[in-house]
Amino acid sequence: MIDKIKAMILELCEDANWDWKNHINSVVKYTEILAKQLNADEEVCELSAWLHDIIKIREGKRELHHVKGAEEAGKILEEMGYSVDKIEKVKHCILTHSSDKNYMPETKEAKILASADALAHFDNFLSLAYFAFVPMKLSIEETRENLLGKTENSWNKLIPEAKVLAKEKYEAIKLILSED
Ligand SMILES: [Fe+2]
Ligand SMILES: [Fe+2]
Repeated sequence: MIDKIKAMILELCEDANWDWKNHINSVVKYTEILAKQLNADEEVCELSAWLHDIIKIREGKRELHHVKGAEEAGKILEEMGYSVDKIEKVKHCILTHSSDKNYMPETKEAKILASADALAHFDNFLSLAYFAFVPMKLSIEETRENLLGKTENSWNKLIPEAKVLAKEKYEAIKLILSED
């Protein structure tokens, strides 16, 4: 069943205006690693990783994509016959992945998704740079600031186990972005 979801999301990525494919693939990769390390529900983590940005990919809008995304994921999983328990767990992960103070991660799986989402930024540094230069039309200096801010935010979102995975890239990115 997960292959159907995977195919649907990858198809949406093809039609989108940003490098969603690499973002989603990285999030999936890191949820897998962290779920194993932390003995979490791997299926919940994987489903959440594939579906977490569905609204953002499809509609290109960031606002409330976690709220609408949780609802949409719930519908998709219900149609596919997943249990109410799994659906509720996935919905909580998606609802809380986006640093919205009204919806904070409470379960192990939700903390893993939020961290994996932030970890992906360390893999996809060039996609973030592209976003700053092209759609946002920022200057080199503005892009430097933007990327430094994003890097720091992402680092601060990580659970300790995820910081271990990101440390080398975090330091390398800061070195590349430093002005001296
Ligand atoms: Fe998101
Ligand atoms: Fe994401």
